[in-house]
Amino acid sequence: MSADSSTCTWLEWSLVALGAITALKIGLSGLLYGWAFLRSFVFPSLGLSRRLKRLGQWAVVTGSTDGIGKAYAEELARQGLDIVLISRSEEKLKTVSESIESSYSVKTKVVVADFSESSQQLYDRIFEQVKDLDIGVLINNVGVSYEHPEYFSEVSTDDLWRLINVNVAAVTFLTRSLLPSMLGRKRGAVVNVASFAACYPMGLISVYSATKAYMHTFTQALQQEYSGSGVTIQSVTPLLVVSKMSKVKRPTFLAPSPTTFVRQAVGTIGCLPVSLGCISHEIQGLALSCLPSSFRSHYILNVHKKLMKAAKAKKNKSQ
Ligand SMILES: NC(=O)c1ccc[n+]([C@@H]2O[C@H](COP(=O)([O-])OP(=O)(O)OC[C@H]3O[C@@H](n4cnc5c(N)ncnc54)[C@H](OP(=O)(O)O)[C@@H]3O)[C@@H](O)[C@H]2O)c1
Repeated sequence: MSADSSTCTWLEWSLVALGAITALKIGLSGLLYGWAFLRSFVFPSLGLSRRLKRLGQWAVVTGSTDGIGKAYAEELARQGLDIVLISRSEEKLKTVSESIESSYSVKTKVVVADFSESSQQLYDRIFEQVKDLDIGVLINNVGVSYEHPEYFSEVSTDDLWRLINVNVAAVTFLTRSLLPSMLGRKRGAVVNVASFAACYPMGLISVYSATKAYMHTFTQALQQEYSGSGVTIQSVTPLLVVSKMSKVKRPTFLAPSPTTFVRQAVGTIGCLPVSLGCISHEIQGLALSCLPSSFRSHYILNVHKKLMKAAKAKKNKSQ
């Protein structure tokens, strides 16, 4: 009887201790996350310029002539960083470069590169042009998607290679080129712009969703490898932002303009390892994550089916 009651007491105390440790852990991570969240979204500019400049004087932004990439380049320049702009079109690059230099009095460097023709030579050529710069921030933003949602078997093989070369190869090989010097200096930030499509498998944009999931998983694995190295690696998983790719034309609370989105996203660099980028996307992401997964996939698939039908009807009409 006494042995039984002492076992019971020991068990009870172990459970209480386990419960207390778990509650403490959840409480502490909640507090840390709450602080990071507040710092990112409520006081985004608190010491931001100093924080970013401490990482290095230059930022590299891919896909920087339009949409989210252009907004990252402008915001980082506004914070006082010099910017390396990388995109396909030399003309567009020059226009963005002149506008940034005159608006923010920073230096820019232009690198013309078409990531759909990925090869080691391409990444070596980019590296040659930037290797002497003190690069503190790398924004792997370049990305392509489908013209409209489509069944996998109907997507052209050219488009599939383009999706893989741009969305998978660029982030991998640019990070491979630029991370070692950041690690050597024990400072830097790599920001990988994935997508909310990385968080859940999405039918009718299957390869886009899978390439973004690669980016998201790659980023989180690197976070483990390089934790404590002084280099932060962030995955950004936005929902809709006004851009050519999203085909959303007018900003709303749910789908902000690239400038509104990026002003908040830049505040999360070094604070949140994974972020949806802006407060309205954090709210939508939270709401969608609460839905049962079968309902969520069904809902998203139906939205894509409607978009696919509308795009095909429009195409047929114009032929
Ligand atoms: N907009 C959204 O709603 C949304 C949502 C989730 C995630 N994202 C992600 O955010 C990123 C930016 O999207 P966005 O909507 O801002 O796109 P966007 O407006 O279409 O801009 C894409 C940028 O990438 C460049 N680019 C395209 N193909 C390229 C290539 N082959 N080689 C080099 N540069 C190339 C374009 O410039 P040039 O044409 O001059 O080369 C442009 O500067 C993407 O990774 C996307 O997946 C966007």
